[in-house]
Amino acid sequence: MKGIILHGGHGTRLRPLTHTGPKQLLPIANKPMSEYCLNTLKDAGVSEIAIIIGGIASNKVQEYYGNGKKFGVNITYVLQDEPLGIAHAINLCKNFINNDKFIVFLGDNIIKKDILNYRKEFEKSEFDASILLCEVDNPSQFGIAVLNVDGSIKKIMEKPKEPPTNLAVTGIYFLTPKIFDIISRLKPSWRNELEITDALQMLLEEGNKIGYYMITDYWKDTGTPNDIIHANKVILENMESYFKGIKEEDVTIEGNLMVGENTIIKKGCKIIGPVIIGKNCIIGPNAIIGKNTSIGDNSEISKCHIEDSIIMNGCKIKSEIKIKNSIIAFNSEIDQSNSEEKVFLLGEGTKISL
Ligand code: TTP
Repeated sequence: MKGIILHGGHGTRLRPLTHTGPKQLLPIANKPMSEYCLNTLKDAGVSEIAIIIGGIASNKVQEYYGNGKKFGVNITYVLQDEPLGIAHAINLCKNFINNDKFIVFLGDNIIKKDILNYRKEFEKSEFDASILLCEVDNPSQFGIAVLNVDGSIKKIMEKPKEPPTNLAVTGIYFLTPKIFDIISRLKPSWRNELEITDALQMLLEEGNKIGYYMITDYWKDTGTPNDIIHANKVILENMESYFKGIKEEDVTIEGNLMVGENTIIKKGCKIIGPVIIGKNCIIGPNAIIGKNTSIGDNSEISKCHIEDSIIMNGCKIKSEIKIKNSIIAFNSEIDQSNSEEKVFLLGEGTKISL
């Protein structure tokens, strides 16, 4: 079975983080979010994977994943000139898929569950598609599935104002080539996109059967900054400690801590895990790195107190401030100013709460 990872899209809800690259490369626990999708597919035995790219700096995706060998898979890149919808992106993979059943993974969806058994069941099944459903508190923000009394899928609706159920359709779809014929007859929605929910609904209306599996473990569609911070927390909570760096005296560590090569934790630091710190970082002296924090490679952090945050590679933070629920992108600097006046050099769409 083949796989498709969607790595295109607008990423507007994640601006300014997406002004310089695709959202799916934003790190969660120091790994691009789409790498979790790739690993889930690989663990399900899917090694032929097409990655849909398009939009700002999509070359960064190719630079990171290359031909896939480093990740134990074979990758084919498929360019989507314009983000005209998930179904549009899937349709571009018609030749790649040929006659196989296949799995589509939205590159910003994180699940904790492995899908090997789902894959095996779908391969044997008569279903023309199968979806993963998850109960959510805010169903009006998702595609929603409605079930018949016998438990089979009756209807699939995109973001209904008054959702009849709380069963969200997650961004992992098990499909057969039948979907290509459906998509070729689909009309764009009000937002000028070919919607996957419309394609699935049309599949049902034409008498085909859609199966489903329920996700009861963690699933997150990481479309907004808060979603990313939450996914970071959950991934960190499930990691095992390792320490490959150097620790000076008078350092307090509580909870799980993952530290990469050549990172120095200087004296007087307090670390309350789960925390991940990448390679070649200098932490402290006297920094407090609190729970659910990821710090990328080559960063320097001193004096401050950080928690529930993501600090990407190459950042320098040397100010006596407390940073919480924040995402600080690659190579940013926060320095100490000795005067009352603060100095800013901010990119377009930056958000700061003082
Ligand atoms: P969305 O999160 O629904 O859309 P978006 O990425 O455009 O973001 P925003 O709403 O913040 O502007 O997309 C779901 C996933 O599908 C995501 O991983 C991006 C991907 N995608 C494509 O690859 N091509 C597309 O044409 C679209 C619309 C999305």
